[in-house]
Amino acid sequence: MTKCALVTGAARGIGLATVRLFLEEGWRVAMVDRDGTELAAAAAALGPQVCALEADVSEPGQVAAMVEAAVAFGGGLDALVNNAGVAEFGPIADCDFAMWRRVMATNLDGVFLCSQAAAPALAARKGAIVNIGSISGLRASTLRVAYGTSKAAVIQLTKQQAAELGEQGVRANCVCPGPVRTKLAMAVHSQEIIDAYHDAIPLNRYGSEREIAEAIVFLCSEKASYITGQVLAVDGGFESTGVGLPALRK
Ligand SMILES: NC(=O)c1ccc[n+]([C@@H]2O[C@H](COP(=O)([O-])OP(=O)(O)OC[C@H]3O[C@@H](n4cnc5c(N)ncnc54)[C@H](O)[C@@H]3O)[C@@H](O)[C@H]2O)c1
Repeated sequence: MTKCALVTGAARGIGLATVRLFLEEGWRVAMVDRDGTELAAAAAALGPQVCALEADVSEPGQVAAMVEAAVAFGGGLDALVNNAGVAEFGPIADCDFAMWRRVMATNLDGVFLCSQAAAPALAARKGAIVNIGSISGLRASTLRVAYGTSKAAVIQLTKQQAAELGEQGVRANCVCPGPVRTKLAMAVHSQEIIDAYHDAIPLNRYGSEREIAEAIVFLCSEKASYITGQVLAVDGGFESTGVGLPALRK
């Protein structure tokens, strides 16, 4: 039976790269994004093995309809990739409640809502959830009071899901990307930040969308059938490196 994945935030960036890799592995994919125009263009280029579902993952009514449509398209659901995310950076004093809520609505509420809506279909097929966190959820930094907190919460939410859904045969894992040159990152990374990341990352570079997708698709696959509740940083070594001072290098 052809497997089906639901990928949120699929119109571009890491989500689109994940869709492409699923297709290469023979899956069908329900692509979800709130940017209907970009989503339609991306899906049209990929052919009949995908369907495009315009929805905002932070809106409970839209999520319910979107999951129902995805399950109808796939004849069931084998994987949910909660990838839709927004980044807004700023100091604590400048993070007003509206900004806090915008970040939490997509990055945290969206993961909760989509997972809850998809859980029965995933249980029916012993499927998998992969949530997209961030190195910003693993290590604190300036300017990310909302973004970093939302991603740390996604890591804990993943563990809650693994603990509770495991007995229904559903696995849940979290992929935490390091910096990738997507529209999201480039909107908040100045050249100074890019240079500093290069210095702090043992592999000395940003990752590619494809490198993140490889970890996501692996965790959705049968190859990861005994892996659940795990947090995998795909970050060139950033998270594991305690003191990344360039001055301490040879
Ligand atoms: N790029 C990085 O450096 C980086 C690093 C760590 C984590 N991440 C995470 O990876 C994920 C993908 O990010 P990306 O860099 O590919 O970003 P991106 O901006 O290129 O793509 C994100 C997509 O999500 C969609 N989206 C946003 N809010 C939505 C909502 N409420 N409902 C439906 N769709 C919505 C956008 O329209 C967009 O198409 C995000 O969760 C992000 O936080 C990215």
